[in-house]
Amino acid sequence: MSWLVTGGAGYIGAHVVRAMTRGGEDVVVYDDLSTGDADRVPTGVPLVVGSVLDGELLERTMREHAVTGVVHIAGKKQVGESVERPLHYYRENVTGLQTLLDAMAAAGVDRIVFSSSAAVYGMPDVDLVTEDTPCAPMSPYGETKLIGEWLIAAAARAHGIRAASLRYFNVAGAAAPELADSGAFNLIPMVFERLEAGEAPRVFGDDYATPDGTCVRDYIHVEDIASAHLAAAQHLRDAAEGTSLILNIGRGEGSSVREMVDRILKVTGNEQVAPEVTARRPGDPARVVASAGRIREELGWTARHGLDEMIESAWQGWRRRHD
Ligand code: WQD
Repeated sequence: MSWLVTGGAGYIGAHVVRAMTRGGEDVVVYDDLSTGDADRVPTGVPLVVGSVLDGELLERTMREHAVTGVVHIAGKKQVGESVERPLHYYRENVTGLQTLLDAMAAAGVDRIVFSSSAAVYGMPDVDLVTEDTPCAPMSPYGETKLIGEWLIAAAARAHGIRAASLRYFNVAGAAAPELADSGAFNLIPMVFERLEAGEAPRVFGDDYATPDGTCVRDYIHVEDIASAHLAAAQHLRDAAEGTSLILNIGRGEGSSVREMVDRILKVTGNEQVAPEVTARRPGDPARVVASAGRIREELGWTARHGLDEMIESAWQGWRRRHD
């Protein structure tokens, strides 16, 4: 099959492109390079620079490259920014997906793997979040991802497309230093940034109802996220018309902020630094950990990489960019 990977020049997208080409799939990258980087696209993989709002270019690209399926990773993903610029998030994430689905219909493409997020769950009040845990997103970002899933499920029912929506938990790490996340919007890179500035890393609240009082999350290596996309794409190749899967991608293991910060300090050789506990960050749920059972049953997929690999590889990428 030939796959159009939107957002394939971004942090997660580039890892997916790598896993898919190594898995023997043909890939074309479609990216507006707003946060992506053309250097992340491997030699031999075509890159089409364009917006997900450009239906004509999407349709033409699918026809010209004889695309048979889409992996839709392009999107805006910062929770805080989505609160400030909701219309922008709805346009890029919801209108963009609708435009893509229209272009797919026009070009006769009927398979899609969609990047969704654990943000659809909001503040889940359960130990392990299953795909049937009620969704109650807490931000415009999370809303756009849930609406995206609904759009896709409706298109699967009405038009017979085959689809898999993958709900990522907390993505970290890199397969190679040059593929690392360039932003500092999540815990691991935010700790690196503080250390680099000679400041103590911050722990946002230690009075949660968790074993050590700090928030618990399910961190997953971006290479595992990528291999889950390959598994989903390959599953859709032979799936029945109208197949519509919703799958968590997590490890099913919780780690506290305190534990993560301690590990980061160790890996980066900063064990003497004492983290600073500050006020809670508004909107943070105490605990969000995946049940990873459904994807194992449906696709035979499980995560392979552990926390130290995530932190070490992220650190190497950070050093490459900042040293
Ligand atoms: C993790 C924990 C912070 C920085 C977000 C989105 C989610 C998904 C992943 C896209 C929290 C704490 C952080 C710091 C800290 N994104 N923290 N000190 O909020 O779990 O998830 O990114 O799909 O949808 O909501 O991730 O990495 O920001 O925070 O104590 O300097 O680390 O409070 O408990 P989060 P995060």
